[in-house]
Amino acid sequence: MLFYLALSISGSALPANEHDFIEGLLQHMTLEEKVDQLNQLGVQDTPTGPVIDQGELAQLPMSTVGSVLGAYGFEQTRRLQEQVVMRSRLHIPLLFAFDVIHGFRTVFPVPLAEAAAWDPALAQRTARAAAVEATASGVHWTFAPMVDIARDPRWGRVVEGSGEDPFLGAALASAKVQGFHGAGPPDPSFMLATAKHFVTYGAAEGGRDYNVADVSERTLREVYLPPFQAAVAAGVDGIMPSFNELAGVPLHSNTALLTGVLRNQWRFGGLIVSDFNAIWELSQHGIARGPADRARLAFNAGVDIDMASQTYRQHLPALVRNGEVPLTAVDDAVRRVLQAKQRLGLFEDPYRYSDEARQRANVLTPQHRALAREAAQKSIVLLKNTDALLPLPKHLRNVLVVGSLATDAEATIGPWALAGHPEESITVLQGIRRAVAADTEVVYLPGASPVSKEAENLNTVRQAARLAEVVVAVLGEQADQSGEARSRADLGLPGAQEALLRALLDTGKPVVILLMNGRPLVLSPTVRQAPALLETWFLGSEMGNAVADILFGDVNPSGKLPITFPRSEGQIPLYYAHKNTGRPPSGDGRYASAYIDEHWTPLYPFGFGLSYTSFSYSTPRLSAQRLASTQSLDVTVTVTNTGARSGEEIVQLYLRDDVASVTRPVRQLRGFRKVHLAPGEARDLTFTLDQGDFALLDSDFSPVVEAGTFTVFVGADSTTENHARFEVTDSRALSISGQSVPSQGSN
Ligand code: GLC
Repeated sequence: MLFYLALSISGSALPANEHDFIEGLLQHMTLEEKVDQLNQLGVQDTPTGPVIDQGELAQLPMSTVGSVLGAYGFEQTRRLQEQVVMRSRLHIPLLFAFDVIHGFRTVFPVPLAEAAAWDPALAQRTARAAAVEATASGVHWTFAPMVDIARDPRWGRVVEGSGEDPFLGAALASAKVQGFHGAGPPDPSFMLATAKHFVTYGAAEGGRDYNVADVSERTLREVYLPPFQAAVAAGVDGIMPSFNELAGVPLHSNTALLTGVLRNQWRFGGLIVSDFNAIWELSQHGIARGPADRARLAFNAGVDIDMASQTYRQHLPALVRNGEVPLTAVDDAVRRVLQAKQRLGLFEDPYRYSDEARQRANVLTPQHRALAREAAQKSIVLLKNTDALLPLPKHLRNVLVVGSLATDAEATIGPWALAGHPEESITVLQGIRRAVAADTEVVYLPGASPVSKEAENLNTVRQAARLAEVVVAVLGEQADQSGEARSRADLGLPGAQEALLRALLDTGKPVVILLMNGRPLVLSPTVRQAPALLETWFLGSEMGNAVADILFGDVNPSGKLPITFPRSEGQIPLYYAHKNTGRPPSGDGRYASAYIDEHWTPLYPFGFGLSYTSFSYSTPRLSAQRLASTQSLDVTVTVTNTGARSGEEIVQLYLRDDVASVTRPVRQLRGFRKVHLAPGEARDLTFTLDQGDFALLDSDFSPVVEAGTFTVFVGADSTTENHARFEVTDSRALSISGQSVPSQGSN
């Protein structure tokens, strides 16, 4: 209504429809007002990037801004919105953007942990709950999901993504976009979503954040692009380019990928928003000759919105006036921003997301806490359980809990939990204390922290351990040892935690290790001595309760690793979908692709996770031994719970193209299904494979199905040898665009 007011002031006729409304608005805007819409101001209190001394720019009038990063809460967003709507000439409302990565006030497991649940429906539910809380708190737009494939755990941001595999990553990317959207506009819990960081950010050389990525065209198309394509197919509203360069071209000035792939190939019609100050950093990359050149390079490559650097505001108008930037391109970018605001209903009511009653009613609700507990339970991975030490009985004379992480509330919510309140989360120690029987004594000693140089009072720790029936050692990383700009060259237990663990093991008492970490760690021989090992990541607001639910057996662990755990840093990058090479590492003799000082296999492979029960698999049964490329194939296995308690098993299907015109990975995930089975229960599971699964990109990157034999594996993790073979009888070019990744969720 505000804009209609503006139009009536200007004497123009009211627009007939939404399209005319936007076009009418555009016609009334000066060039500077248009560029203001492409300017995003970082007003966050908790910086998510280098604090830039903006000098006079820090006093920017809000009316010269199209969107704001980091403001939230009905009061702050209402106040900022009023400044713009009431003081600007055309009263165009602001967009409020925030990093809603794994929850909002209710914090869910970090994305890498949630990926261990292999549960797109769960990911959609937690994204939905996060959107309900964030939009009730004034947020219109999240910079999530982060969909970067990562195969190098030295890179700290592996915590923010879904691990190493494009098929699992694409399924989760799609689910999260749908979760953020919900029913869609005009529902006020609809939140704009952004897939980031486009693209190959996780391939940073040396695992060093922001470093160059130098992957082949094939790896780009087969590994790094698919989750973004899935997000675009799911209707994601924004794409954020990554800080890195790819093969000499920074993503923020990469016309081939931003315009060539995103706009022209994939027909992406949403917003391309820079990362924090990344346009300014084109000078650091050494490709911009001065400030105006930064703006020219980024805008002409396809970046619509400048986050935090103010480069567009300072230089785009002059570039348009001197013909270096087409006004039509600026109009197109501004149109996309205005359309986003229109979809959110902000022209009708700029304050509809800044609603005190809605915020108070929807944040940190019991339902969201219950969902956080469920998601945390499903994200925990049982890595080792010698002699069925776990689950522990709740009736014990004495349990010793050791490790500073057991009481570290910041660590429970992990990195990128900007709106979370650590004091509202349940720590591991709190969860254990709540779970045990009233007459069970729980003794706690910090012992060591991930940042301590020395372990504390090891004699006291040894004495306490000798008095305990069982020791629970909570070891791993602090929240700020994973995440952005948190690369590590040494992936062992940081600080003096190893010394603490050796002291505990020396007592001979049974030690259960709970790992709290945001990335695969290199687990030393000392760690491997412990009889029981649970991967508990950073699980969010309900961490302590969920850990106790698993530790004491109220819930049977079902998580499976979404990323490989190497034996040593020297193996990195190490991932399951590797190539066979001409001298396979599995070969014998000295001339094999292996190490002379370390076994080439991972410590724990992709897809691995144990249960308190056990499962058996029949050999896969195929609907055909030979089929045409146009036909589909049913693969059926019988999964049986062979243990004494019910449990959930994540059944995984992998496919290998045995011989092709280009080399193929030894196997690729092409289906997964979670099944709940009672003791002794058997269930037939059928996966259907089709051309999308058989396809590859040939040497010209054209999608084809090639005649020949395939091996299909079905089992409990990526090392299963439970397989069957079939043959596709003809070759055929496919019309699917982009790359050969099959449609997600087909299995
Ligand atoms: C950060 C991150 C990005 C985030 C942005 C805004 O530097 O790279 O993921 O969305 O800045 O906080």
